[in-house]
Amino acid sequence: METFYITTPIYYVNADPHLGHAYTTIMADSMSRFHKMLGKDTFFLTGTDEHGDKIAESAKKNGEGVRDYADRVSRKFYELWPELGVENDSFIRTTDPEHVECVQRFLQLVYDQGDIYFGEYGGYYCFGCERFFTEKELDSGNCPDHQEPPEFIQENNYFFRMSRYQEWLRDYIQQNPGFIQPEGYRKEVLAMLRDPLEDLCISRPKSRLQWGVELPFDSGYVTYVWFDALINYISALGWPEGEKYSRYWPAAHHLVAKDILKPHAVFWPTMLRSAGLPIYQGLRVHGYWKVQEEKMSKSMGNVVSPLQLRSSYGLDGFRFFLLREMQFGHDGNFSEEGLINRFNS
Ligand code: MSP
Repeated sequence: METFYITTPIYYVNADPHLGHAYTTIMADSMSRFHKMLGKDTFFLTGTDEHGDKIAESAKKNGEGVRDYADRVSRKFYELWPELGVENDSFIRTTDPEHVECVQRFLQLVYDQGDIYFGEYGGYYCFGCERFFTEKELDSGNCPDHQEPPEFIQENNYFFRMSRYQEWLRDYIQQNPGFIQPEGYRKEVLAMLRDPLEDLCISRPKSRLQWGVELPFDSGYVTYVWFDALINYISALGWPEGEKYSRYWPAAHHLVAKDILKPHAVFWPTMLRSAGLPIYQGLRVHGYWKVQEEKMSKSMGNVVSPLQLRSSYGLDGFRFFLLREMQFGHDGNFSEEGLINRFNS
């Protein structure tokens, strides 16, 4: 029987679920239902991403222990999906012991492959993005996303030899036009790969951050949150021995928004390649919901609550609006007026 595996990003637990998360998850749910109707053996995964600086900081600000905090917010996502008619087959948390074990096994494989080395690194670190930026990537000295100056951090860390796979990845994307869609995002990734790809810093010293998965080859470090998070797509299937893994991998389609294109299109395939695993089947990338042309954010106070919309307009109307209003791949503008118009017509 033909199989189909669809995933959403696993959402950070430092914010409550909003319209953006609901859009991706409802889109994934619709795709999953469609493939089930076609008679395919389908598996639909969502979940939460719980390690890293950002979560540890939010817990502290809230005066909660980080584990309790992660449990509490993760539950909000877990409980929201059935309320929105989402029928996911599983829900993964990066704090699940099975996931943590998988991340360590994966790291060890890549390490044994000779693709992880120790080195000194200095760079501009944005805590909001949880990543280093090169000087060239900054926007007048600020993080291009958060518009705040990053901190210059110099430390010893472990690196993944991502550069080794640059040529392979470029050829792979060129030879498999269906791998990244829509086409605009495929072109964007190919453009990224025209410049030399830098190796990826994949550790954080415990002196700075404890909330993460310990490196199997150095207990003084935890794993960089993206290296941990991406592995959820296989740990949820019980990789390496799991029955679900042999059944659904590599028939995977990852659905994401454009904000996390690079980790999915560049980090993840090169990680899989290094560990000797087959590459997932497709990346499907959508745009961003905006409110009056502005980004939705807590600080702007324009965050749209999916449950409120459901209670005003009913679930089917709300779901239909989301799927109909946004042209897949492009940004969409959310307004309640737009919803009412669609609904009435
Ligand atoms: N934890 C990472 C993903 C790891 S996946 C291995 C992360 N989490 S997130 O909570 O920030 O979620 C980002 C995703 O939420 C986007 O890629 C998108 O699916 C969804 N969206 C969040 N805000 C959105 C909009 N305003 N509009 C559309 N989708 C948005 O990144």
